[in-house]
This record gives sequence, C-alpha cells and structure tokens, in this order.
Amino acid sequence: MGLARMAAETLRFKVQASSAETQAVRSIVLAPEGGSAPAWEAGAHVRVALPGGGSRPYSLMALPGLPEGHYALGVLREEASTGGSRFMHSLKAGDVVGLSPPANNFKLHDDGLPAVLFAGGIGVTPILSMAVELERRGMPYRLHYAGRMEASLAFVAQLRAICADRLSLHYDNDASRLDIAAALNAAPRDAHVYVCGPKGMIEAVKAEAIRRGFGADRLHYELFTAEPSTDANRAFEVELRSSGQVIEVAPDQTIIQALEQAGIEVLYDCQRGDCGICQCAVIEGIPDHRDVILSDDEKASNKVMQICVSRAKSARIVLDL
Ligand SMILES: Cc1cc2nc3c(=O)[nH]c(=O)nc-3n(C[C@H](O)[C@H](O)[C@H](O)COP(=O)(O)OP(=O)(O)OC[C@H]3O[C@@H](n4cnc5c(N)ncnc54)[C@H](O)[C@@H]3O)c2cc1C
Ligand code: FES
Repeated sequence: MGLARMAAETLRFKVQASSAETQAVRSIVLAPEGGSAPAWEAGAHVRVALPGGGSRPYSLMALPGLPEGHYALGVLREEASTGGSRFMHSLKAGDVVGLSPPANNFKLHDDGLPAVLFAGGIGVTPILSMAVELERRGMPYRLHYAGRMEASLAFVAQLRAICADRLSLHYDNDASRLDIAAALNAAPRDAHVYVCGPKGMIEAVKAEAIRRGFGADRLHYELFTAEPSTDANRAFEVELRSSGQVIEVAPDQTIIQALEQAGIEVLYDCQRGDCGICQCAVIEGIPDHRDVILSDDEKASNKVMQICVSRAKSARIVLDL
C-alpha cells in the first residue's frame, strides 16, 4: 500500500505582474481566475503548487495600491533552491498557478496592546501586512527591519509609505545595525513581540524578550525554512498504538518512509515540516522536533509531532496511528 498524498483544495490564479524589488527578491501579483479570492488576515500565507509536484508557502502582502481581491507575494531567490523560489522567479504575466486557500499560523493579537515588529530579510512579507493592519486599527507599534545592506532590503519604499516614522531600518554593514536589546528596551513592556526572519534572529529576539520580562504568551514568530540538523541521525523505533506493530526507522529514513516501507498508509503533503498535514499524536517517547509549524509550547509538550521531518530522541516513540 502506498502513501496517500492529501491534495489541498487548489484555486487558480493568474499572474498579473512580476517585478524585481531587489537583485534577489521579486514581487508577484496574482488575480483569481473566475470567482473571488478568499479573504485573509495579516500573517497569513498561501501554498503555491510547483509544476513538478509539491508546494511552497508564501506570505500574503498587503502592498499599498494592490487592487481589491488580488494577492501579492514577495519571494527571495534561494541560491540552493530545490525548486520553489526558482519557479516563483520564473513566473511572468499571464501564467496560471495553483494556490491553496490562505492559512494563518502567525496571527496578530486583538487585545488592544501595542506591538513591536522585527523583520529580517525576506521575513518582512508577513510583517508588512501586520504594519498595515496595525495602522488601520490605529494601534501603537514600531517596525524594525534588518538586512545585510541597504540594497538587500525589499519593499522599503512601501514600508515608508505605510509606517512613516514608525519604521526603523537596520543594516549589518554600518552603525544602524539592529541592536535587539535596545529595540526591546524602547518598547512598552506590555507589547506583543513579532519576529520573522532567520533562525538566529528569531532565537535572539525571543531570548532577549524573555530576559526583559515580555511574557512568553506575547512572543510570536514564524520561521520560513527548517535548517539541516547538525546532529547525526540515529535509528529509532516507532510503535503504532492501534496494532502494537513496531517499525525501525533507519538513520537515512524519515518516519513516513519507514511506515511506507512497512505498508502503512498515512497522510502527508509538504514533507518539509511546514504544512501540518502529517501531524501525529505522541503517546509515549520524546520527539526530536525539526518542523517549522509547531509553536514552542506545542514542541515542549511532546504530545504531537510532524512525522515527515521530526525524529525521536528516545529509543522508541509510540504514535497514535
Ligand atoms: C509560513 C511560511 C511562509 C513563507 N513565506 C515566504 C515568503 O513570503 N517569501 C519567501 O521568499 N519565502 C517564504 N517562505 C519560504 C518558502 O516557502 C520556501 O521555503 C523558499 O522559497 C525556499 O524554497 P526553495 O524550494 O527555493 O528552496 P529550498 O529547496 O527549500 O532550499 C532553501 C534552503 O533551505 C535549505 N533547506 C530547506 N528545507 C530544508 C530541510 N527540511 N532540511 C534541511 N535544509 C533545508 C536548503 O538546503 C537551502 O539552503 C515561507 C515559508 C513558510 C513556512
Ligand atoms: S507533510 Fe507537511 S508537515 Fe509533514
């Protein structure tokens, strides 16, 4: 029995425009082919279907001047791309792409408290939409946008138009370099903290915010891409709760591959730890989480895991399968 791949509902969108924002970032504007585009809120993303199968998530941007019902994406070309960003950069006006309906794992709070937003590089895409929404609500906020140098930051003109003096730009190569401690020091202590960017930046903002007494429930982050684990993979066993069957997962296999080899059918889609479809309840054992979708609390609970990328720290893990 092979694996069942769960086909997400696909909406057809036509590319209206694709423009270079920097050397490595393009904006892509899409309009629905018939029907209307589903509504979305700041922090949401859509998954774009790739021609060879699979999909990649991209955050929706509320760019100023975007026509009603259109979607805008901002995509960084990854030098080591396995296809996603290369395909996105090849799109031109008139091309048709398949999109999943918007999903949101990075929602803005609605409790009336202020916000401090941190964007690193292409992590600016959901953060820009948050600034638009905070402006619309008339809520106090500050947006810190950091990158290697001035030329590498995309959407600066649009952010200046949205945020005016609430925007702080930081370049690694001069004195404006982001000082996370100073930025948090200047923020109201009851602020919600949002960060989207490289893993190191997310970890640094989270650690500094906790140190300064920002509540963990007011820290929100989204990581775009999992990083390769530096630990060598070890073999472990998976026990299926329904049948008691025990399956060995070799160091070079994922749990899904080991289950498939044993003739067990499970649902999955992205196989990159970013869609949440393969999520399984953990009954016993300690997962080694390698996904980008679970929150810190969910990871720490050890009650669920994404079996496409995550492994086990314990010799055996019992799954609710
Ligand atoms: C919720 C969400 C929103 C996103 N929004 C945006 C956005 O607005 N703009 C944008 O440009 N991107 C966004 N991304 C990232 C995007 O989905 C793709 O991951 C990105 O475009 C790179 O895809 P790729 O196929 O070109 O490159 P990949 O093949 O993914 O390669 C990129 C780099 O990551 C490494 N890598 C990737 N996955 C793994 C893994 N599982 N293990 C080890 N190494 C790995 C590769 O070696 C390479 O160095 C978002 C991701 C998520 C989860
Ligand atoms: S298949 Fe998407 S998170 Fe595992």
